[in-house]
Amino acid sequence: MIYLDNAATAFPHPRCVTEEQARCMRDYCGNPGRGSHLLAMRAAEKIYECREAIASLFSCRDAQNVIFTLNATMSINMAIKGLLHEGDHVLISDMEHNAVFRPIYKLAREGRISYDIFSAHALEEGDVSDRVIASIFEKLRPNTKMLICAHASNICSSVLPLEQIGEHCRRKGIFFVVDAAQSAGHLPIDVERMQIDALCLPGHKGLLGPQGTGALLLGENISADTLLEGGSGYNSLEGSMPKDPPERYEAGTLPTPAIAGLCAGIQELKRIGIQRIHEHEVTLNRCLCRRLMKLSKVKVYAPHLEGSVLLFNAQEIPADRMGAMLNERGFCVRTGFHCAALAHASLRTPVTGAVRVSPGIYNTIAHMDAFADAVEEILEGEF
Ligand code: ALA
Repeated sequence: MIYLDNAATAFPHPRCVTEEQARCMRDYCGNPGRGSHLLAMRAAEKIYECREAIASLFSCRDAQNVIFTLNATMSINMAIKGLLHEGDHVLISDMEHNAVFRPIYKLAREGRISYDIFSAHALEEGDVSDRVIASIFEKLRPNTKMLICAHASNICSSVLPLEQIGEHCRRKGIFFVVDAAQSAGHLPIDVERMQIDALCLPGHKGLLGPQGTGALLLGENISADTLLEGGSGYNSLEGSMPKDPPERYEAGTLPTPAIAGLCAGIQELKRIGIQRIHEHEVTLNRCLCRRLMKLSKVKVYAPHLEGSVLLFNAQEIPADRMGAMLNERGFCVRTGFHCAALAHASLRTPVTGAVRVSPGIYNTIAHMDAFADAVEEILEGEF
C-alpha cells in the first residue's frame, strides 16, 4: 500500500509518536492539573512540554497562549465564535475549507454577521501577492472585524501571502485568523512576524501527532469568549471560567496520551526540519506533475503551484471511480470535493470533483512513478 493522503491525516506516524503515546498510558497518565500526586504532575509536565514545543515552532512568545483543542476545526470555531460580535463583517478567501466557510455561513444565515470572499488568484501564475491584497482591499468595509483564511489550500498547493495580509490587517485593526491545517509542519509560520492574532492548528497532519490533537495560538492580550465551560483544574470555587489562557479555553480533561504523542511528533519534525520537508514535497509534486502532464487525458489543476498537494482528473473517469481503481492497485488518495466547495469552484473542477494526491515525508520518487504508472494503466484500460 502506498499512502498519498497526508492532507487528510499523516500516516504512518514516526515510531517515537506511537511509543510516547504508549509510554504515557503505561507510565504517567494521571489527569493533568487535577491532583497533587506524582502522576497528575507528570502528565501536566508533558502537557506543558508540548505547549512549549508548539510555541517555539511558531515563534509564539508565551506558551500559555497555546490552547489545546481536538483539531483545527475546533480551533477555527473557537476563534470565529469567540471573537466576532453581532453586526461584524468578515473576509474569507475563495480557497476556504468548510472548517472556515461553514461557521461563517451559519452566523451569516442567522443574520448575526456578514461576509465577503476575496480571491486567492490560485489559477494565475507568478507572484500574485499584490492581486490578493488588492482583492482584500476591494472587499473591506468599515465594520470588517476579521480576516480568516487558509494559509495553504487543502486541494492544491496554493499559498496565501500571510506576511503582507497580516501587515494590512494590523494596520486596519482587523483580527487576522489563519487556518494552518495544511501548512503547519510544511511551511514556516511565525505568528509575530506575520502578525497573526489566532493560529489554528491540527496536530495530526504536518505536526505528525495523533488524531484528537489540535491547538489555537491566541495573540497576546486577546481575550475571546469561550465555546466550552467546565472544570479547568483551577479556581474551582468560581462560577466563571478563568480569565487567562490556557485554562480559560480548556474545559475538561485533555487527551494527555495524544498530546504526549504530538510532542514527540513535533520533536521529530524539528529534527528533520520544515525546510527539508518542504523541499522533499516539492520534489515529489514536481515529479508527479511532470509525469501526469504527459498523459493527454489528464488535467492537473493549477500545475504551476508546487507544494504538498496535487489535484487532477483523468478525462471522463469520475474522481470517485478513479479513487476506487487506484485503491484496488494499492494507492490511498482522497477524491470528491474534500470538504472545500469554495476552493473547488475557484479551480473550476467538474461536478464529479477531482482526485487529490498528498504525499508526505515517507514517500519517495519511486512512489510517484508507481502512482503515475497506475494512472497510465487505468487510462489504457479505459480507452
Ligand atoms: N481537511 C482534511 C482533508 O482535506 C480532512 O482531507
